[in-house]
Amino acid sequence: MGSYETKFKKFLNEERKIVEKKLSEALKNRKPDSLYKPGYYIIEGGGKRLRPLLVLMAAKAVGGKLKKAYNAAAAVELLHNFTLVHDDIMDNADKRRNILTVHKKYDMSTAILAGDSLLSIAYEYLLKDCNGTAKKVLSAFTKGLVEVCEGQSLDKEFEIRKAVTIDEYIEMIEKKTAAMIEMCCTVGALLGGGSAKEIKNLADFGKNIGIAFQIQDDLLDITGNENDFGKLVGGDLVEGKKTFLFLKALEVSKGTDKKKLLEVVNNKGIKPEQIQNYKDLYQKLNILEEAEKEIRHYTNLALKSVKKIRNEEYRVFFGSLADSLIKRKK
Ligand code: IPE
Ligand code: IPE
Ligand code: MG
Ligand code: MG
Ligand code: MG
Repeated sequence: MGSYETKFKKFLNEERKIVEKKLSEALKNRKPDSLYKPGYYIIEGGGKRLRPLLVLMAAKAVGGKLKKAYNAAAAVELLHNFTLVHDDIMDNADKRRNILTVHKKYDMSTAILAGDSLLSIAYEYLLKDCNGTAKKVLSAFTKGLVEVCEGQSLDKEFEIRKAVTIDEYIEMIEKKTAAMIEMCCTVGALLGGGSAKEIKNLADFGKNIGIAFQIQDDLLDITGNENDFGKLVGGDLVEGKKTFLFLKALEVSKGTDKKKLLEVVNNKGIKPEQIQNYKDLYQKLNILEEAEKEIRHYTNLALKSVKKIRNEEYRVFFGSLADSLIKRKK
């Protein structure tokens, strides 16, 4: 067991390096600078590279070769960064990965177009790895992208809607976040030559870990340390987002507490100086524990899929990844 853990760390270190190289290669030597410098800026800003690593892990878990999936790995990270650039515009965010967001560093039009070019190059790179499974890979990738747009649209719609149920919230995050993480597992498993059953199993892992991932992102938006998290803590409250924490708080609160929460809805957000006040209210209502419980629930569902992975080494790798995501600070 222990040696697998060490092997997993080594795998992550080595593969991360290869992904970084591919990513810079993808954006280097392109003109004009006005388009590609901002795109490179967000990519270079770092990030966990969770999605490309999932592509590679899924390919290997079904017995495939890493070499056949490196371009696809770069493609999903490019796609992810495209969604981040546009998400930060939509969410009015000034900071990501501890640096200014692209539209703040440059300007709005630059950020929109830089995002578009990241999306385009994502397809360019995906196509490089499309072999016999080309149509299936392209269709999974495209489905993931369509769902992100639908999820992001629901996220914005919920900001101004008075009432949103937790079921509706889960459906929204399934689309905006989990669909793409699921897609990474599908694409990796397809490129690795997995069976239909293996592909479905890894896709299920991705979907459930993706749901847990977004609830954790909502939680970190309250409990995170700004330096670790790299984004403004409390940003969701300022923007009046219907996060898991907010909806749960609304569900369990009464009287003046509920009134205070409804003010967020009516005013479409709060002022930055009120963040601490709402953090205290969440604490009082035990919302942080509720979120942790929910993250645990979806992680456990993902772990059920992990058990079905036949390759012992990758069973441990996927299990370790799920564990590390629960403990993440960024
Ligand atoms: C941020 O994704 C967007 C969400 C889906 C919450 P990550 O948390 O994976 O961001 P990076 O790539 O590591 O910066
Ligand atoms: C996920 O939601 C965004 C995407 C699908 C790109 P968030 O808006 O919460 O992501 P962060 O917190 O800004 O990274
Ligand atoms: Mg958002
Ligand atoms: Mg955002
Ligand atoms: Mg967030």
